Amino acid sequence: MSNDHRITLECTDLSKTYFSTDPPSQVLHGIDLAVRTGEFLVVMGASGSGKSTLLYSISGMDRPTSGNVLLEGRELTSLDDAEMSRVRLTRMGFIFQQAYFLSNLNLQDNILLPALKAAPEDKDGVIKRVDALMERFGIDHVKRHGVTQVSGGQLQRASICRALAGEPAVLFADEPTGALNSSMSTEVMNALTDVHGDGTTIVMVTHDPACAARADRVVYLRDGLLIDTREQGPWTEDQAKQREDDLFAWLSDKGF
Ligand SMILES: Nc1ncnc2c1ncn2[C@@H]1O[C@H](COP(=O)(O)OP(=O)(O)OP(=O)(O)O)[C@@H](O)[C@H]1O
Ligand SMILES: [Mg+2]
Repeated sequence: MSNDHRITLECTDLSKTYFSTDPPSQVLHGIDLAVRTGEFLVVMGASGSGKSTLLYSISGMDRPTSGNVLLEGRELTSLDDAEMSRVRLTRMGFIFQQAYFLSNLNLQDNILLPALKAAPEDKDGVIKRVDALMERFGIDHVKRHGVTQVSGGQLQRASICRALAGEPAVLFADEPTGALNSSMSTEVMNALTDVHGDGTTIVMVTHDPACAARADRVVYLRDGLLIDTREQGPWTEDQAKQREDDLFAWLSDKGF
C-alpha cells in the first residue's frame, strides 16, 4: 500500500460477499483502485455489476468482506462503528439519486444539520459556509422552503451544498442525476464540475455517458471486477460533445 500523498483514497484487494443470500453472493472480487487528490473519478458498468457496493465499501457505509481502504492515509476497515461515523461525518460528503432530507426542516436547516453536528464549536463558520454554498449553487432564494416546495434540480443542488458543508476530503455520488430530467441533470453536473474545479476529490457512479464525460477518469466494472480504465483529462465545455462520443464508443465496445 502506498503512502503517496497525491492519493486521497485507495482500496486494495477489496472484496464483498453478501451472506444474506443463499448461497452467499460475492459481488466484488479483489478491487484495486487509487483515487488521486483532486481527481474526478467515475465508476460505470451494467446494472448489478457492483458499482453501489463498491462506493459503499470504500466510503464506510458498508464494510468490505476483505481488503483494505485508506482515506488520507488512514485505514478505515479497522475503525469501529463510532470512529467510522465520525470519519464519514467530517471527511466525506454523500449525494444519492434521491435526496434524503427531513421534511420537518427547511432546506437551509437540512443542509446545516450534518456540518453543525460535525463541528458544533464552529457554528458561525458553518452557517457562513453554507450561506455561500447556497448562493453559489443558486438556491439562496429557496432556503426557507420546505423540501417538497423546491424542484428536483434545486433539491439535488441542496444535496451538493450539504455534502460540501463539512469540507470533505472526498465527495461520493451514486447516480446523482439518475432521477432528473436532462436540463436538471446538466445543472447538477455543472455544479459538480465547479466543485471539482475547486480541487474537491469526487467519486461518482453514473449510467449516463454525458455525465461521465465530465470526469478525469472512468473505470468500468463488470461482475465485480474492474476491467478497464479510461483517462479523459480535464473537461472543457467546447470538447463536451467529442468526449461524450468517444466515451460512448469506448462503452459500446464493452457492450454497455
Ligand atoms: N444488501 C444486499 N444483499 C444481497 N445482495 C445485494 C445487496 N446489495 C446488492 N446486492 C447484489 O449485489 C449485486 C450488485 O449490486 P449493486 O447495487 O452494487 O449494483 P449496481 O452496479 O450499483 O447496480 P445499479 O446500476 O442497478 O444500481 C447485485 O446482484 C445485487 O442484487
Ligand atoms: Mg447502484
